[in-house]
Amino acid sequence: MEHPILIIGHSSGIGKALTNLLCRQGIGVIGVSRSEVNEAFSTLQSLQKSVFDLTEYDLPTALSGVIYCPGSINLKPFRSLKINDFNDDFETNALGAVYVLQLAEKALKAGKGSVVLFSTIAVAQGMPFHASVAMAKGAIEGLTRSLAAEWAPTVRVNAIAPSLTDTPLASKLLGNDARAQAAADRHPLKRIGRAEEMAELAQYLLGASWISGEIIGLSGGMGHIRL
Ligand SMILES: NC(=O)c1ccc[n+]([C@@H]2O[C@H](COP(=O)([O-])OP(=O)(O)OC[C@H]3O[C@@H](n4cnc5c(N)ncnc54)[C@H](OP(=O)(O)O)[C@@H]3O)[C@@H](O)[C@H]2O)c1
Repeated sequence: MEHPILIIGHSSGIGKALTNLLCRQGIGVIGVSRSEVNEAFSTLQSLQKSVFDLTEYDLPTALSGVIYCPGSINLKPFRSLKINDFNDDFETNALGAVYVLQLAEKALKAGKGSVVLFSTIAVAQGMPFHASVAMAKGAIEGLTRSLAAEWAPTVRVNAIAPSLTDTPLASKLLGNDARAQAAADRHPLKRIGRAEEMAELAQYLLGASWISGEIIGLSGGMGHIRL
């Protein structure tokens, strides 16, 4: 990658795995998270702030990529979800991505960069208690296709739609061995996802010069298989 990659959410889970993967290859990463990151890579510049506090002065003139990792898993029956839940989930999952992509548009175009966003399997497949997160991630899928069209052919935009992946975000759902085993068993491939395999797909999409506007499922077979 000629220019740095901007990763929003590099302190945890998939964003952390991607930061490690890229930095180990000597690729420049600007990582943004609210909590402090102590990883010492010579090619990593860490900014401790919220995505909404980023300014144009934080960004270089050219970027090879932007990855937006913040997300939520706020699972409740529809009747228990307050309007604030929908607002909070929309802000974290969708508006933060809009904010950083508007800020980074010039640098992405200058660097002929690529964008990777995160959806969820729960957009394409209805699941109980997922109304708020599925709505917010549905917006990410619409944004992915719209921007892919608007920014083609200079900047490619794709999204990954994972199923349950072993990260701090999913820890409540994987709270004990029985829950983790039940979650694994719901997948045709009989395990949950790993942050490292999400990171590998994100790196592939960053460099995939003939893929844009796609939502790629990474879901242990949950996307299309019934056993
Ligand atoms: N894990 C799963 O099972 C799963 C399933 C489907 C989809 N996904 C999606 O995959 C993506 C990555 O998930 P993950 O499991 O890796 O999540 P995670 O472990 O919670 O990591 C999210 C990262 O985003 C950062 N972040 C959150 N709000 C931020 C803000 N306002 N400004 C800057 N950074 C912020 C967090 O750091 P700080 O808190 O330090 O800011 C953290 O580094 C998410 O979009 C998620 O919805 C995950």
